[in-house]
Formats: sequence, C-alpha cells, structure tokens
Amino acid sequence: MCGITGYTGLNQAGPILLEGLRRLEYRGYDSAGIAIQSERKADADGSESAGSSIKMLKATGKVSHLVEKFEAEPDFKGVCGIGHTRWATHGVPSDTNAHPHLSADGKFAVVHNGIIENFAEIREELQKYGIEFKSETDTEVIVQLLAYNYKGNFKKALMKTIARLTGSYAIGVISDEHPGTIFAAKQASPLIIGIGIGENYFASDITALVSNTKNVIDLDDGEVAEITPDEVKVFDHTGKEIEKPIRHINWDIASAEKSGYDHFMLKEIMEQPQALKATIEPRIKDEEIIFEELNIDMKKFNRVHITACGSAYHAGCVGRGIIESLCKIPVEAEVASELRYRDPVMDEKTLVIVISQSGETADTIAAMKECKYKGATVLAIVNVVGSSIAKLADYCLYTWAGPEIAVATTKGYTTQVVLLAMFAVWAAGELKTISHGAYTTMVKDIMRLPERAQRALDLNSRVKKMADKYNDNQSLFFIGRNMDYAVALEGSLKLKEISYLHSEAYAAGELKHGTIALIEPGRLVVALCCYEKLLDKTISNIQQVKARGARVLAVAHEGNRSIFAEADDVLSVPVTDPLLVPVIEIIPLQLFAYYVALKNGCDIDKPKNLAKSVTVE
Ligand code: M6R
Repeated sequence: MCGITGYTGLNQAGPILLEGLRRLEYRGYDSAGIAIQSERKADADGSESAGSSIKMLKATGKVSHLVEKFEAEPDFKGVCGIGHTRWATHGVPSDTNAHPHLSADGKFAVVHNGIIENFAEIREELQKYGIEFKSETDTEVIVQLLAYNYKGNFKKALMKTIARLTGSYAIGVISDEHPGTIFAAKQASPLIIGIGIGENYFASDITALVSNTKNVIDLDDGEVAEITPDEVKVFDHTGKEIEKPIRHINWDIASAEKSGYDHFMLKEIMEQPQALKATIEPRIKDEEIIFEELNIDMKKFNRVHITACGSAYHAGCVGRGIIESLCKIPVEAEVASELRYRDPVMDEKTLVIVISQSGETADTIAAMKECKYKGATVLAIVNVVGSSIAKLADYCLYTWAGPEIAVATTKGYTTQVVLLAMFAVWAAGELKTISHGAYTTMVKDIMRLPERAQRALDLNSRVKKMADKYNDNQSLFFIGRNMDYAVALEGSLKLKEISYLHSEAYAAGELKHGTIALIEPGRLVVALCCYEKLLDKTISNIQQVKARGARVLAVAHEGNRSIFAEADDVLSVPVTDPLLVPVIEIIPLQLFAYYVALKNGCDIDKPKNLAKSVTVE
C-alpha cells in the first residue's frame, strides 16, 4: 500500500519526487513526504556547516498538501532524494508518522513500503542503547538500526540491517555522508529501478517513472541496489554484485494520464474495448485459442481451485461457472484471506488459479504459497508484468490491460473475466469436453466482446440519468442468479467502495430467506437479468420486491421486452453468450457507481480508507 520513489542526478530532485508521488498516490494517500540531500552551506571560514545535509518536508493528507509546502520553501534544494505517499498501518496519519523517517543523529533517511513484523523487538533493543524514537511507525526501526550499524560503510550497514528485518519491505535510503547515492532494497514489496542518462531513479511501480524513462531493472527479493547518477549496481543477499537485465516498457505516458477525462476511473471504464482487444487478439489465431505461455497438461488435474481478493475474487466467481460448465471439472472459488488459513485439501492433482490485477496482494500471495506447499500447480492471471504473483506462479497469463490507476478496478476486472473464459474454452478443447462447433462459437463470441463492450458504453448518458434518479438511496440491493449473481457481487462492491452507499449483493433466490425484510417502499433493487436461462425465476423475485414497494432498475439483454413490464427502468445491453454475460453486464454498473459517486461529491479515484494495491494483511 504506500508508494515510494527516489531520484539522483543533476536536476532538482524536489519537483521530480513530487511528480512521482502524484503518480503513485493511488497506492496510498493519507500523508506524504520527501527528503533530499541539500547543498551544504559553507561557513565564513570556508568549512562546511555542521549538522546533517538531509532536509525533509512532510504533510498530512494528499500529495497536493506537500506540494503547497514545497512551493513555500524556495531553499528546499538538492539533486538527490527520496519520497513516500502513505497508507497508514502503524500509527495514525500525521506529519510525525509520515515518511521519510530520519535516524536520531539525522544522518540517514528512509522511505518504506511494507510491514516490519519484528519492529517492536528491534525498537526495544535500540531503546536500551538510548536511541529515541519519534514516530509510532514500524519503519523507524529500519533507519535507527541502520544508523546504529553504520561504521563508515553504507552498503555493509544496510545489508546488516535488512538481515535483521522480518516481514515485507521495499525501501530507499539516503545518507548525509554519501552525496548522490541512494540504496534500495526489496523483500516481498514491489520496487523497480529506472535507468536514465546521467540520472537514475527508483519507484514502487513504473507509473512514477514513465515520463522520465522506459528502461527499468526489476529488483528481486533479497537484492540491494546502489544507485548513483551514472551507475546502478545490484547485489544479491550475500553482497555479491550481480548482472540484471534491463526491461523496456512499451506503454507511453498517456497510459498514466487522465487524457482529458475527469477521473482515471471513467477513462479506464471507457478503455475497456481496447483493453479487451489487447487481452484477446494476440491469443487467437484462425479461430483457435493459443496460449504460448501454457505448457500444462490439463488431464493431470481432477479439480480447480480459484482464489483472489475483492473484484478479482468476483472475476473468479465468474470463472468458476465458465470452467465448470465447459471443462466438466469441479471448481471452487474462495477469497484468499480465508483460503490461506483454512488448511485446504489439495494436492498435485489440483490446479489453483490465482487472480490479481496488481500481482502484489498480500493475502493472494500467502494463499498461493499455501497451495504450492500442498503440491498444487499455480496458474496466475495478472495485469502487472513482473509482479510478485507473476513471478511466484508456475504459469502466468497476463491480462495486458495496461496500467490501472483508479482504486476501483474496471478494465482490470473485465480483462480477468475474459482471460478466464479463454482459459476455460482452451482447457475444454484440451480435455475434449466441448464439441468443435461449440468451441468455435465461443471463440467467435469472445472476439465480439470488444465491440459489444463499446455498445454497452454507449449507455453512458442513460446510466447518468439513472444515477441522478436513484442516487438518493442510502441502502440498495443487487440481485441476480448464476452469472448475474456473480455480476451483482461486483456491481455492489463498485458502488459501495466509491460512493460509500450501503449496498448488498444477493443471490435473487436467497432474498426470501431473510433479507426481504429490509425491502421497504422506495428501496432500490438493481436486478440483473441477462442470464436468460433463469430469467423467469429472477422475474418472480422482481415481482416479490415490487410487491413490497421497491423500485427496480433492471439490466437486461437488448430485445427483452418482457422486462419493461416488470422493472421501473431498464438498461439494455448487447446479447452475448450466457457464459460471457458478465463482461458486458458489468459495464453499466461501473458507470452507475461512477455517476452516483460523482453526484455525491466523492473522491472517485481515491476512495477513503482504501488503496490500490493491498500489500498488507
Ligand atoms: O490487485 P488485486 O487484483 O489483487 O486486488 C484485489 C482487490 O484488492 C481489488 O480487486 C479491490 O477489491 C478493488 N479495489 C475493487 O475495485
């Protein structure tokens, strides 16, 4: 959660760090700070001033508050520095708890993303030596221990320090005694190094760097980097220098910009046709699905287990239905935070599919490790290239959706669903559980999804009107059956996370077992009616809530006339195969959530209490 960045070169570090933090803000936004090695002022006798050269600026709240402070400090100058935007784990959001943190002697500053699990023990030990701590954070122990270990060799002191840490960290450190040098280290939190000309960078992810460089080194767990303006050296956990490949990023700065949209979320909703194309097209040749990345023998497995968190889990619920239906193999879907502690029954005949946009979600990583430990084969469906989950999995399929910046996922979710559908069709082909005709029809339907998604987006202005009409509901329900129920889960999450309205998703048939008691005159029920095999049943449920005074907004297939007699309002989406319904049906619900949140004045891209990448438990 938290974003970190650093710069060393010939230019002023302040504006570069602030720009990087602005781009990383989606990772956490309750406070921010920067530290630089300032130019030392010479005393009258020509000697250097005493005291540390490290200067810091911190602000509670958004990065914009930090920018205001920076603009009021014209003397905050230096060409090497580090920055941080925080999502609080230890200690309230405050200037004191904001990073960077400084050692008691003021000689070292650190920024950190992750959690130091043994911080209490290290702090207690250092306090015995008389070291005073200023903040409530776990991070401060890193910098205090570093200063304590320092005997003139920066790298040695850092290696000794990180050897004591347990938990997760991506850190950047500067020292008063080593102008122009940044050390970075990583363990289970993301960190990349950006390679420039006469200047180098580090950051939690490429969005912070893409306006400056497209050449990056992916630091791996246990590695340490020494970054100076002209050179980047990487060392393994023993301190031995190692060669690292440079990866070239092929997306441009527009991918990390709003490009004229008011919010990243709206931009990413609108980008879905292109994102779906990017996921689908490279993998279909002559109406056949080709996964060059997959060298799996599907016959080896007698069951599939899908695990993920949040929206990725909702994509997994869709995937469960598609894989089971096409491959005739038992499939379970479970949230990773439960699976990781459940001692699940699985073995080498189990295929586990983990799904994650960021590839860094802590619960998902822990669940996948548990499954691997039990002998399962792990296939990851991930968006961020080179992320931890992508690296840890036995096989990885990238969604290739491009960067997703808004905290609420949209194109991340739809590309996950379509990739699961493609996997299901491919696997059914391998297992021969699908006829050639059905296979070809599914492939053709998948290829039509980008165009159908575009037509669903054409509902934009009508959805906006619906949001105007219904945004007064403080509590609402999403109902559906089968695939529609999976979409209800995602539609409801989308609405609550960005508009803060209470909403619940219910399997339509479950309402009468208790929840219908909450239906009262005026209550909005969003009824998902695209899974036509069970449409009659859902219509009965609509009638039951209508009889109790609810207002019903239905999402149904174009051409479905009967629904108009039942619902107060209908959003009609293009007809698609029942198993592919979620990709299209979710689009008006994403727009609905967006416009309700807009109407209610919410901070859409950065909803309160949330962060894009949940790297803590
Ligand atoms: O990066 P991941 O896909 O692993 O993230 C999982 C969830 O945290 C994520 O889907 C979350 O639920 C979204 N904010 C929902 O929009």
